[in-house]
This record gives sequence, C-alpha cells and structure tokens, in this order.
Amino acid sequence: MKIVTIGGGSSYTPELIEGLILRKDKLPVKEIWLVDIEAGQEKLEIVGNMARRMIEAAGLPWQVRLTLDRKAALKDADFVTTQFRVGLLDARLKDECIPLAHGYLGQETNGAGGIMKALRTIPVILDIIKDMRQQCPNAWLVNFTNPAGMVTEAAIRYGQWEKTIGLCNVPFSHIEQATSLLNQPEDALFFKFAGLNHFHWHRVWDKQGTEHTAGLLEAIYGGQQLNEGLRNIHQIPFNIEQVRHLGLLPCGYHRYYYLEQQMLEHAVEDFAGYATRAEVVKATEQRLFELYKDPNLKQKPAELADRGGAHYSDAACDLIESIYNDSRKMMVVSTRNNGALSDLPYDSIAEVSSVITSHGAEPLNWGTFPPAARGMLQVMKAMEQTVIEAAVSGDYGAALHAFTINPLIRAGDNARQLLDQLLYAHKKYLPLF
Ligand code: NAD
Ligand code: G6P
Ligand code: MN
Repeated sequence: MKIVTIGGGSSYTPELIEGLILRKDKLPVKEIWLVDIEAGQEKLEIVGNMARRMIEAAGLPWQVRLTLDRKAALKDADFVTTQFRVGLLDARLKDECIPLAHGYLGQETNGAGGIMKALRTIPVILDIIKDMRQQCPNAWLVNFTNPAGMVTEAAIRYGQWEKTIGLCNVPFSHIEQATSLLNQPEDALFFKFAGLNHFHWHRVWDKQGTEHTAGLLEAIYGGQQLNEGLRNIHQIPFNIEQVRHLGLLPCGYHRYYYLEQQMLEHAVEDFAGYATRAEVVKATEQRLFELYKDPNLKQKPAELADRGGAHYSDAACDLIESIYNDSRKMMVVSTRNNGALSDLPYDSIAEVSSVITSHGAEPLNWGTFPPAARGMLQVMKAMEQTVIEAAVSGDYGAALHAFTINPLIRAGDNARQLLDQLLYAHKKYLPLF
C-alpha cells in the first residue's frame, strides 16, 4: 500500500504515523510519501526524519519518502491524505485579526476567516485532483484540510473525485465526552451525528435502546460539565433552555452562532493580549518542531495534544483501514448526503454518521431537523456552496454573496469593506480574484 500525504510538513504527521503503526497488522503499508512545498521544506525534513525514527523503532520496513514533487509522489498511490495550509499560519493570523478589527469573529473555519481559507484552498485541491487523475486514478482522497466540509464538496462536485471523504476530529471529542460522562465504553453506545462540518448535532443511545441525549445535555450544559476536549474553542456554556428546546447535542463550534456575542467578546479580550489562536498555535508548533529535532525522540510527544486536532490519527487511519478491509466501521465523515438529511440538497456534502465500506461511506438516515435547527443548517449549506462557487470562478459577486449570507458577517458596506481588505491581504494566494 502506498500512502501519500500532501502537506507532509505539518506538525500532525507524527499523529498519522502513530495511527498507521498501531494498525500495522491490518494495513500492508509499503511506502509513505510526504509532500510539501518550498516554504515547508525545513519542516518536512524535520518531521519526515521524526516519522522515520518512529517507524524504525516499531521495527517496520516502511519507506518514508520526502519530496516537493507532488506529481512524482502521487504515482500509483492507494490513499492520498491532505493536511495542507495554503499561506501557512501567517494567512490564518490575517483570517483571525482582520474580521476582528471590523468587529466580527475571525476563525479558522467560521465567519469571514473560514470563507477566506476556503477561497485559498479550493483551487489547490482541484489542482491536486488533476494530478491524481493522471497519476493514481483509483486512489481514495482523505481530506483533512479545512474548511473540511467545503473542501470535500469542492473535490466531489467540481473535481468530480467521487472517492473523496472528509474528516474532522470533533465528533471523536464528543464521543469521548459522552463515554466518560456515561461511564460506558464507546462500543456500548450508539451515536448518530448529522449536519455539516463544524455545524452538526448528535444523539446517543445505549445497548438497551434507552436514549441518553437529554440526560447528557443536562449534565453538560445544565451541570456545566464542559469537558469537550476541544483545545481551540473557548468553552462557554450554551443557553440550557435553548438546548433543551432542540433536544439535540450541539457541537462545540455552534457556540460561534448561538453565542456569537460572548465568543466575540472573548476573542477581543485575547486579541488585546496578542494571543489569537494563530499565535498560540505558532508557539506550540515551534515547541513541537524543537522536540521533533531530537534524534532520541521516537514517539509522538504528549505536547501534540495542545493542538486542536487531537484524534486525527484515529479518524484518518480508521477510515483507511475500514475502506481497505471493508470493515464497515461506523464513522462520522463528510460525504454526499444522498438523502440521509432530508433538509439538505440530495447531492450536497453533509457530515453524517456513516458505515465505511470498501466502496465508500454509506450515510445513516437522519431524517428532518426541527425548524429551529433546519433554517440555520440550510443557510450554512447555501453559504458553503456560494463560497465554493466563488472559489472556482473568482466571481466577486459570489464572494460578496457568501459574506452576505454568512451569519457572522453584517451585510452591506461592512461586508464589502471586509471582503476587499481580506482579498487584498491574501492576494498572493487568490490568483482568480
Ligand atoms: P501547517 O500550517 O503546518 O501546514 C501544513 C503544511 O502544508 C505545511 O508544511 C505547509 O508548507 C504545507 N503546504 C502549504 N501549501 C501547500 C501546498 N500547496 N501543497 C502542499 N503542501 C502545502 O498546518 P497544520 O496546522 O498542520 O494544519 C494542516 C491542515 O489541517 C490545515 O488546513 C488545518 O486547518 C487542517 N486541520 C483540520 C482538522 C480537521 O478537523 N479536519 C483539524 C486540525 C487541522
Ligand atoms: C479542531 C478542529 C479543526 C480545527 C482545529 C484547530 O478541533 O476539528 O478542524 O481547525 O481543531 O486546531 P488548532 O490547534 O490549529 O487551533
Ligand atoms: Mn475539524
């Protein structure tokens, strides 16, 4: 098996390597190719050597190849995973700061920041697919690159790469939260998630068929047991009356929408102290790379848990394993809706509990949402699709529409000025605009 990871210089690479090592009996890995660009070459070398040490320490004969030549790397790949960041963390810093300076939330995947990340990333994923069509026409594309839902939809709708599945670690965190609060192992519980990436809800049952959703939402948001394990999201309690009214467990990211004002106040507070998440992550990354340089380090360091993407390796490697062996594992993934969520367009991408087979994800039927959630969900999907349309066309009107629809941006001259400033700030990575 040949696995190719685009954005191989990411500090998350040891997560992925650890996950593959743990599944060595189920995955006949031969080669792992880590691909990066010139700007990431130094990181690629450091983390690539770290990966080699981990594999050697595990006594495995796997080859790790480091390259800037994407086309060569993709030749005959079986699985292509993506974990790249166009513009690196400096671009994220702009996505977070510029909206804040206009009085809006700036975040990696939400609000104007998330839209800009999509506009920078979608042309690159479509280029990767062009190379894949030539070099590895049967490969699976496992997308971790954010905004994962929009990038996955672009890959399937515009890249027409049907064998694409998007991943996020947030469902894992919520599963862990529920298993710990209910004091039950994961396989004793049944989880059903549905919505969009970073905008989903879930329900939980036990083996006797008893539903625990209401009890969990009381424990978490009534009892304030806010142990979500998401390092990057400030954990403010949701309004309990509102959660009760919906009767579904929200995901951590819903705070940006349900509690926009408090989240904005918190962000402004951090901003004043020069501690945007991008700056925190820059410092964490520097510490991690210092550790990775140590020739005696042969295992993923505990400090990697300071990043928001904990459990990434479980998600990516379980997915690869379940596709390869047709294990039919139940996972929450971004995949074609296919009618599972009757409130979303049939062919759009949803994040939904699915059975992972050798032919891809088979989403579980969710049905319909109550109006209180349905409206927001449909607005978010329309916003996502408008962002993707803007990313592939470079149409300013489409971008302005996306800003207008996004609930975290005020429409009118405000939106226009913010868009213009962000387009200018990210000009280098937006050749279509
Ligand atoms: P990072 O800033 O370390 O970037 C990763 C690598 O991508 C860098 O080495 C960079 O040089 C490289 N890169 C940039 N442009 C590239 C290109 N065109 N081709 C190939 N490589 C390129 O990023 P990170 O913090 O490790 O995060 C990686 C990605 O994973 C981001 O997009 C992030 O948003 C995403 N992420 C997703 C989840 C999830 O839940 N799906 C969780 C955490 C992070
Ligand atoms: C989360 C998400 C990711 C997100 C990341 C941020 O849990 O699932 O999609 O981008 O963590 O982590 P960071 O450490 O980069 O702020
Ligand atoms: Mn995510």
